[in-house]
Formats: sequence, C-alpha cells, structure tokens
Amino acid sequence: MKSEPPGPLPRHIAIIMDGNGRWAVARGRDRIQGHRQGIEATKKVVKAARRAGISCLTLFALSTENLKRPARELNALFDLLRDYIKKELAELIKNGIRLKVIGRAELLPKDLQKLIQDALKKSRAGEKMVLTIALCYGGRDEILRAVSRGPGLRKNLSEKKFGILLDTSGIPDPDLLIRTGGEFRISNFLLWQIAYTELYFTKTLWPDFSSRELRKAIRFYQTRERRFGLTPEQISRGVGS
Ligand code: FPP
Repeated sequence: MKSEPPGPLPRHIAIIMDGNGRWAVARGRDRIQGHRQGIEATKKVVKAARRAGISCLTLFALSTENLKRPARELNALFDLLRDYIKKELAELIKNGIRLKVIGRAELLPKDLQKLIQDALKKSRAGEKMVLTIALCYGGRDEILRAVSRGPGLRKNLSEKKFGILLDTSGIPDPDLLIRTGGEFRISNFLLWQIAYTELYFTKTLWPDFSSRELRKAIRFYQTRERRFGLTPEQISRGVGS
C-alpha cells in the first residue's frame, strides 16, 4: 500500500519543556539534576530540529512565574544557562543558528545578560535556523509591553502592526507547539502567536524527549489539515493561501 506523501514541514516549532523536576524526583535525585538532564535534551533537540530543516525553534526556558522559585533552584538554572551558552555557542554558529531571546532579559543576573548580548551578536549571521529562548517570559507580560511600546496604537490598528511590537517580531507564528510532561495547558506561552498553531502534548518528561520524539511530533503535524477557520472545500481551492 502506498503511504500518503507527508504534508509540509512546520516552519516554526515552539516547545514547553516541562517535567525536569518530576524526572529527578522519580529517580530520588535533586530537582536540579533534572534541569541538568533537561539541558542535555535541549542540546539534542536543537541539533535534530536543525537537521530536520526547521527554520525556527522557540524554547520556553524560564517563565515570569518561574522567577519565584527557590533561590537555590533559580541560581542553578542561571548556572546551567551560562554553561549552555559558553559551551554551545561555537557549535550553534558553526551550524548557522541565530540566537534570539524573548522576555524580560533585564531581570536576569547582569553577567548572564552580558553573555546573552554577546551570543546574540556573535550568532547574528546565522541563516539556517533561529533559536529563540524565552527567558523571564510571560505571554500576557509580552502583550502588555507591546501595548506600552506603541503609543498611538489605536490609529489604523491591525494584527500585523501589533505583531511587530511583540518580542517575536520578525518570526512567523509557530506552526506546531509541543508540550512535554503530560499537562494540557499553555502556561502563558506565546498567547498571541498560537492562535492557529497545532498542539502536540506528550507525557514524556523533557529530559527523556529525544530526536525520535521530535520526529513523531513533526509527523503528527504533517497529518493535520490546517484550515485557519475556512471550510475544507475552500482550502482545496486555495482560498486564503
Ligand atoms: C520545567 O520543569 C522546566 C523549567 C522550569 C526550565 C528548565 C529548562 C531547561 C533546563 C532547559 C532550558 C535550557 C536552554 C538552554 C534553553 P519543571 O521544573 O517545571 O518540572 P516539573 O513540572 O516536573 O516540576
């Protein structure tokens, strides 16, 4: 039997990387060990996405709410981020990956902010994939900041004009959102941008998420018929495209 040709690849995949803490607790380990293992999964998934030909990958690394976690865990997360940037930047640049950060990076420790600024500058020529890391990020917070950035916004307001004021300006909306860790919620991630995004939830905890799982999520996406509110008949006539 001939299998159906796969649909198009998602241009932009966004991921809510959940389950590091549970992964560690299930093994009788400290939550921080779970985050450490989470970084290993992150490295693999970034490489796999680039290899698969994904143009944009956006990772939810730290929410505005996560900033209220105990100082020890938060500091460990900052350390892991420092380490990730220091160790992976050369590899990212070599692979044509441009780094972008969304969220309120000014809430991060000063040295980490500097490290990020430097990484953004050094990787800016990357044309193969944009890797966006959401740090101190909240979707509602992003929308409020966008509104405050656009005085006189009410005149000729359009979705396109508003989108330019968001942190994700210049990046297409996600085609596919993956959430690991078994919860069925959005947790204040990319609220504006996911209006028509396909959603993929998996029980797999982030440290166990692999390139195989990423391929599975991409295949799921390729079986979806995206209609953007139109009828199947309109879609087959090419209306709206
Ligand atoms: C959720 O697990 C994950 C986080 C709070 C963020 C940690 C993310 C990483 C370590 C990878 C990011 C790294 C880079 C470089 C982008 P949780 O602690 O909420 O898990 P739980 O729900 O099981 O408690």
